[in-house]
Amino acid sequence: PLVSMKEMMIQGKKQGYAIGQFNLNNLEYTQAILQAAEEEKSPVILGVSEGAARYMGGFKTVVMMVKGLMEDYGTTVPVAIHLDHGSSFEKCKEAIEAGFTSVMIDASSKPLAENIEITKQVVDFAKQHNVSVEAELGVVGGQEDDIIADGVIYADPAECKELVEKTGIDCLAPALGSVHGPYKGEPNLGFKEMEEISSQSDLPLVLHGGTGIPLKDIQRAISLGTSKINVNTENQIQGTKAVRETLGADTEVYDPRKYLGPMREAIKQTVIGKMREFGSSQQA
Ligand code: G3H
Ligand code: ZN
Repeated sequence: PLVSMKEMMIQGKKQGYAIGQFNLNNLEYTQAILQAAEEEKSPVILGVSEGAARYMGGFKTVVMMVKGLMEDYGTTVPVAIHLDHGSSFEKCKEAIEAGFTSVMIDASSKPLAENIEITKQVVDFAKQHNVSVEAELGVVGGQEDDIIADGVIYADPAECKELVEKTGIDCLAPALGSVHGPYKGEPNLGFKEMEEISSQSDLPLVLHGGTGIPLKDIQRAISLGTSKINVNTENQIQGTKAVRETLGADTEVYDPRKYLGPMREAIKQTVIGKMREFGSSQQA
């Protein structure tokens, strides 16, 4: 069923696993992720950035595509459709009204007081619709669609405490050294801060930039209260590799199903691997 991510995250935190947020880019991504979740009996979060929603047609197109596939597939595992890095109250509202079951309001580039104010506004609206809310503090490095950062700023635990207490969010993404896109060298995650932030409340934490984080760091993050991990780039890399191989092996191919089918399969296998790493397999 289509649900908010609130319950699945509480469950994950309690049982010591994380739920993957896998980003949608088109139909095949959506198919691959839903198929992987059902096969693995795993709850799943479908992440949709504003840019990806635009690419696919809009928020309504995304919601109807997901609902249609879930019906055709007979999906039984819990699925959340989540706005990734929502840029304003208006965008979050638009997504909620189109049927998203979860939103992230990313006002992390604003001063704390303003971040709190916008986030609170989103929470108040979302609560009326049973929609879960994720907020962010600090700066995640790298680039994802419209979100571009020059550097990395680690979230401040005192600011996290204030934001959590004043807004009533369902989960918090404190930027702690993670990066969107591939890492240059080994990631240097702020586990000390993660522990401190986690100990301040029982709110589940979110780890952005899940591509390229070694398993030991994933496990450590989960043990410190991380119950959602976002992955996008890894699926793009593996999916595109399959397309390249298929087209490279046969220059006569023109039917898109002949190269997008292998892309879909590569993404599905990548997602299955992540669900096992995160421990969410067999939990739904
Ligand atoms: O919001 C989405 C994620 O943080 C994805 O990060 O593309 O590095 O896996 P990634
Ligand atoms: Zn992100």
